[in-house]
Amino acid sequence: MTGGVPADGPIPVIAIDGPTASGKGTVAARVARTLGWSVLDSGALYRLSALAALRRGVSDTDDQALADIARGLDIQFLGDKVLLDNDDVTEQLRHEHIGEMASRIAPLQPLRDALLERQRAFRQPPGLVCDGRDMGTVVFPDATLKIFLIADVDARAQRRYNQLIEKGFSANLGDLLTDLKARDQRDQNRSVAPLKPAHDAVVVDSSNLGVDQTVDCILAHWRNRI
Ligand code: C5P
Repeated sequence: MTGGVPADGPIPVIAIDGPTASGKGTVAARVARTLGWSVLDSGALYRLSALAALRRGVSDTDDQALADIARGLDIQFLGDKVLLDNDDVTEQLRHEHIGEMASRIAPLQPLRDALLERQRAFRQPPGLVCDGRDMGTVVFPDATLKIFLIADVDARAQRRYNQLIEKGFSANLGDLLTDLKARDQRDQNRSVAPLKPAHDAVVVDSSNLGVDQTVDCILAHWRNRI
């Protein structure tokens, strides 16, 4: 048994989906560390595709060129660091304009198709915790536990603001709020892999929960599941 899962069953996956800045990434990393599993931040793959496209001068509407870029991405995840073409892009990936471009190219089906197998390759023993928008609906529809993590938009804007200020970036709360609302709209209303809870997802509202409480809540759901 690993993390409470029989060794001969499918490799377990905990899928955590939800809107921008709902805390998915932090929570997914903590749940993975607790269980000793690997982690996939799928948003990073969309951000990396956006950054690589910007560097190569590829337009955000050229879906085939974007798919080629996604397929050929030379990336490494080293602990908390992300390398693109051997260059440390960890900080750049978090810039708002990269997140914004990622959200604009994310509806393009050829790009999503190109990233699908790359994401599934992260499913390695003893287990995977992944976060994104379509982990439980499209990428890992057979995930053992599906969490849909929400938080009200003001709480999310405030969290994003605090994160940016802590890292020494300048930020404007009003602009962040406007940007988050626009991204929510785009992610929820696109026809391809829209942001929505899987029919068998557990909805967790973290508006009034700290990181520790959210992690504990997800681990409790996991223990109930196995
Ligand atoms: O999660 P993060 O903000 O890093 O993701 C950046 C963008 O990538 C999102 O706004 C979303 O449009 C897109 N995305 C997606 N599907 C995923 C993860 C991210 O469409 N599984």
